[in-house]
Amino acid sequence: MRHFTSINDLGDVQAAVKEALEIKKNRYAFQELGKNRTALLIFFNNSLRTRLSTQKAAMNLGMNVIVLDVNQGAWKLETERGVIMDGDKSEHLLEAIPVMGCYCDMIGVRSFARFENKEDDYNEKILNQFIKYSGRPVFSMEAATRHPLQSFADLITIEEYKKTARPKVVMTWAPHPKALPQAVPNSFAETMNATDYEFVIAQPHGYELDEKFVGRAKVEYDQRKALEGADFVYAKNWSAYKDPNYGKVICKDMDWTVDTEKMALTNNAYFMHCLPVRRNMIVSDDVIESPQSIVIPEAANREISAQCVLKRILEGLNGDAQPVSTGYWH
Ligand code: CP
Repeated sequence: MRHFTSINDLGDVQAAVKEALEIKKNRYAFQELGKNRTALLIFFNNSLRTRLSTQKAAMNLGMNVIVLDVNQGAWKLETERGVIMDGDKSEHLLEAIPVMGCYCDMIGVRSFARFENKEDDYNEKILNQFIKYSGRPVFSMEAATRHPLQSFADLITIEEYKKTARPKVVMTWAPHPKALPQAVPNSFAETMNATDYEFVIAQPHGYELDEKFVGRAKVEYDQRKALEGADFVYAKNWSAYKDPNYGKVICKDMDWTVDTEKMALTNNAYFMHCLPVRRNMIVSDDVIESPQSIVIPEAANREISAQCVLKRILEGLNGDAQPVSTGYWH
């Protein structure tokens, strides 16, 4: 595998889950594979789980890891071409990216949707510049439209906990005070669509996701109806995708919070969330602390999903030394 920007880059997802579960049994079995290889992790946005789990995954594989928080300690980066750089941004991404590529064998990038320009977000403008100009394999640590390391971990977790071959999985919108990207729900939907599970998306009107991610999902506007008989409840907030409200909060209806009354409608479902979660907005204290809450094992599987992805990228590297990118000028 060269780049990882979507769950589809893994090919057969069930084979990928099988591989991940083998890795989980012995996570130090591939220490030689990453020897003298360096992963550079670039964060344009905050992170707890992705930062720690990806570093741990790389270390499990015997790799060296460098972490850079672009907005804390590096030069502020200009991302638009043609800008007269007389403001507070000292360096252009078009120089910074190939330079970063000089110091590593692969690059992980976290760069959220900015909600300034929907086309730029949905064309993954930042992530694709890393792919184009770094000369290195690039993996997404949550980009503008997808968070595939998260959705792969979610799938591993469902496969570990499911009690029937084809569980009913309900992804439900829930309220949040701020405008959040659609990356997590997009990726979760994309991943569920790669399985044969029964998959339902529950959301208020106006929160429809891009159809290419919704796929074969059944869309419900009545959350209680959607939750009936669910085996897994995946709660998440997202902002509006559809124009003219792209990136906006159009509803904060607290009747969509997942609480014990809602969970009672399910088939004793497991509760999932990617974290961080706003308690008593997205989910009640009682539900997240209940025995049916699997948010911690779900987060723990982020190490396993990252390790499986990094292992596949390492296996795709050729030879000992990777040529340095000549950058944009050739
Ligand atoms: N779920 C997730 O990606 O967590 P972080 O934002 O803390 O990395």
